[in-house]
Amino acid sequence: MNDYSDAASARSREEAKRLLLDAYRFRHAVKDFDAERKLAAEDFEFILEAGRLSPSSYGFEPWKFVVVQNPELRDVIAPHAGGARRQLASASHVILVLARLPREMVADSDYISYMLHDVQRLPSDIADMKRRTYDTFLRTGFALQNNERAMFEWACRQTYLALGNMMTAAAMLGIDSCPMEGFVKHELERALTEAGLMDAERFGLACMAAFGYRAGEASVKTRRAIDEVVEWR
Ligand SMILES: Cc1cc2nc3c(=O)[nH]c(=O)nc-3n(C[C@H](O)[C@H](O)[C@H](O)COP(=O)(O)O)c2cc1C
Repeated sequence: MNDYSDAASARSREEAKRLLLDAYRFRHAVKDFDAERKLAAEDFEFILEAGRLSPSSYGFEPWKFVVVQNPELRDVIAPHAGGARRQLASASHVILVLARLPREMVADSDYISYMLHDVQRLPSDIADMKRRTYDTFLRTGFALQNNERAMFEWACRQTYLALGNMMTAAAMLGIDSCPMEGFVKHELERALTEAGLMDAERFGLACMAAFGYRAGEASVKTRRAIDEVVEWR
């Protein structure tokens, strides 16, 4: 037990479940936000913190979040993002969720050295061991190393954990969101690079997320039944 789990036991578990399920039911993919309603700065910081604290494979955080508030820069994105156009025009805050390219994520990259030594602060013998284990994972465990796209998608998969946590954090505050993949990847990446929004030597675009307050009613939420989704053996 630690301080957090002690506190969780002490407070009402039913209350915690209710709050979280209410947030999941409240969250829906908003197309049109109320353009007049902006998020409070501290609320958006909380959302970003939920992203920053998200888990990642080996703790290597293969993401970067670029917040695009300048309307002119959103206009750079819109022509290449048909599925996100309405959100780009109306959301209070928009995040580009970038994923690190394979050259950044291979075991002998400067970025992995930085993570092992400067962020995780591992003693050098432990860092070396972790780097070797990670290298084996990339080469044989997940067999990613020789497949650029597979390795990039693996980094993207991890960014979606941060995406989910940010949307849940927002929903807990009654803030709406929309995850967005409705773009032409190679076109938008080129436009982002030309506009100075993405360093194409190090990153690719995984997805985008919009935050704000909904304009109008939520769409009806449909989900398969739990016994269709879950199998017990
Ligand atoms: C990875 C991902 C990408 C999505 N891309 C878009 C998008 O580009 N534009 C959009 O309007 N909705 C997008 N959605 C929202 C989904 O359509 C929506 O989550 C789904 O229909 C379920 O509805 P709900 O989120 O309102 O419960 C995306 C959702 C996910 C998870």
